[in-house]
Amino acid sequence: MIGLGCDHNGFGLKQRLHSFLTEYGEEVWDFGTFSREPVDYPDVAVAVAEAARAGLIERGILVCGTGLGMAIAANKVPGIFAAPVVDPDTARLACMSNDAQIITLGANLVGPGLACAIVEAWLTAKFRGGRSARKVNRIRTLEQRYCRDAGPVLLGGR
Ligand code: RB5
Repeated sequence: MIGLGCDHNGFGLKQRLHSFLTEYGEEVWDFGTFSREPVDYPDVAVAVAEAARAGLIERGILVCGTGLGMAIAANKVPGIFAAPVVDPDTARLACMSNDAQIITLGANLVGPGLACAIVEAWLTAKFRGGRSARKVNRIRTLEQRYCRDAGPVLLGGR
């Protein structure tokens, strides 16, 4: 299950990605927003991030104007690794190297064709573990140190 969320700036691209993911055979949970009426991106980011944290979705995609605000907000939720990506290479590495379960996209920065290629690259990538796992676990340890609600540090992946 892939969670999908956006603010008003990301609405058009989110709709396109919803169709793409469905055609690709993925189950999609659309967290909105559902129109171009202005909404605050942190509200959507936290809904998708909490669903990922709870294991209700395996991965999430968040779209705003730049992808930056969504990433910053989602990364406040303990256990969440949200990466702003701009091309298939950064998307692939967000999974392979950083074990990001959420990617964020900027609708003002990437067009629909590139966004679909980005999502496909991310969906087909796998976390490579090894040295990357050690570094990802270091980040989890940091989260434990600074965040009271972080839960246990999980070793060896989620
Ligand atoms: C609008 O709120 C705009 O700031 C948003 O779409 C996003 O680009 C934030 O990072």
